[in-house]
Amino acid sequence: MDLFQHSINVILENQHSEGAYIASPSFETYHFCWLRDGSFIAYSMDKAGQFASAEAFYRWVGRVITRYATKVDVLEGMLGRGEKPDYTAILNTRFSLEGFEEERGDDGEWGNFQVDGYGSWLWGLAEHVKMTGDRSLLFELIDPIKTTVRYLQMVWQLPNYDCWEEHPEYLHPYSLASIYGGLKAVSEFADIPLLTESARQAAVLAGEVKHFLKQFAIQDGRFSKHLFPAQKGQPVKPVLNSGVDASLLGLALPYAVFDLIDPAVSVTIQAIEKDLHLPGGGVYRYKEDVYYGGGEWILLTAWLGWYYVLTGKKDQAREMLKWIESTAAENGDLAEQVNVHLLAPDHFEPWVEKWGQVASPLLWSHAMTIILQKAIDVMSL
Ligand code: BGC
Repeated sequence: MDLFQHSINVILENQHSEGAYIASPSFETYHFCWLRDGSFIAYSMDKAGQFASAEAFYRWVGRVITRYATKVDVLEGMLGRGEKPDYTAILNTRFSLEGFEEERGDDGEWGNFQVDGYGSWLWGLAEHVKMTGDRSLLFELIDPIKTTVRYLQMVWQLPNYDCWEEHPEYLHPYSLASIYGGLKAVSEFADIPLLTESARQAAVLAGEVKHFLKQFAIQDGRFSKHLFPAQKGQPVKPVLNSGVDASLLGLALPYAVFDLIDPAVSVTIQAIEKDLHLPGGGVYRYKEDVYYGGGEWILLTAWLGWYYVLTGKKDQAREMLKWIESTAAENGDLAEQVNVHLLAPDHFEPWVEKWGQVASPLLWSHAMTIILQKAIDVMSL
C-alpha cells in the first residue's frame, strides 16, 4: 500500500465539486468543511503538487466569506455598543460543503465561534501563492482577504472555542498563533495596490499578537494552553493548571511566531514528548482528553514528526511516519485517532454510542501524513 498516493486519492475523492473538503466522509458529525482542517489539507495538496485542488478550496473559502461578510458589520456594531457578540456576528468555523451555515444535531451555534481557521486560511493561501508563483488568485480574493483581516482585528482578544472545540471561556495561544501566521502572510502583499492598506494593518496587528504571546503565553519557560482574557481591570494571565497540549506545536510550526530553536519551543516540545507521546506510539492531544476515550491522534503524530524533520532529528521523524503507517486500515485509510492505549477508557463506548465509530478516513490525518512524508523526502535529498 502506497500510503502517500492513497492519501492524495482520499483527499481528491472527498473534495466537493465546489472546492470544500469534507472532514470525514464516514462520520456524520464531520460532514462539514472546517477552515482549520481545510487549510492544512489544501497545504498538503500544494506540497503534493495538486495545485488545482488547493486553489479550488481557497476559492470556496473566498465565496463563503463573501457570502457572510455583512456579519462583520454586525459584529462591529455590537462591539461598538459594548454587547457580547452572538451567532449573528461571528463567522463560523465550519460550513456545509455547499458553503452555507448549516447546523445539525446538538451542535450549538456558539460552538462555531473559533477564530483559528481564519488565520489558517490566510496562511495557507499565501503558501499556495508562494508554491505556485501565481498571484492571480490573490486578485480574485481581495475582498475576502480584507474582510478576514478586519474580522481578526475585532475578535483576536475575545474568548472563543479552541481548536478542539472546547473551553470557550479562554483565549488560546494556538489560535492566536494561527492569527499571527495569517496576518504575517497578508503583510507581505503590500505591493498589491488593492491590498496595501490591509497589508499595513495586518503587519501592525501581527506585531501586536506576537508581542501579546511573548508577554502572556509563556509560563515556567513553556507555552500555556489557555489564557484568561483581560476582564474588569484584570490583566490577561495564563491558566496555570491547563497542562501541555500538542497543538502548541503550531506556535513554531507552521505559524512561526517563535523560532524552532526558541527555548520556549524546546521546553514545550519536551513536555509534549514527556506527557503526550506514548513511547513507540503516537501523540495525544492533552492529558485530560476524554473524546472517544482520548486516543493517540495521527495528525499530531505527523505534526511532531514534521517538527523533527525541521530540527534535524531524522530518525525520530521516520519513527513517527512508521507508526502512522502501522495504524492504517487495510485499504490505507487513516483514522482521526487510534484507540488502543486510551487515556480515559471509560469514555470510549459512550462516544461510540453517541456518534458511531471513530472517524476514518479523516482527511486532516491524511494531509498531515503527506506533509510529513514530503518533509522527509526533502530532508533525504
Ligand atoms: C476536532 C477539530 C476538528 C474537527 C473536524 C474535532 O473533533 O476537535 O479540531 O476540526 O473535529 O475534524
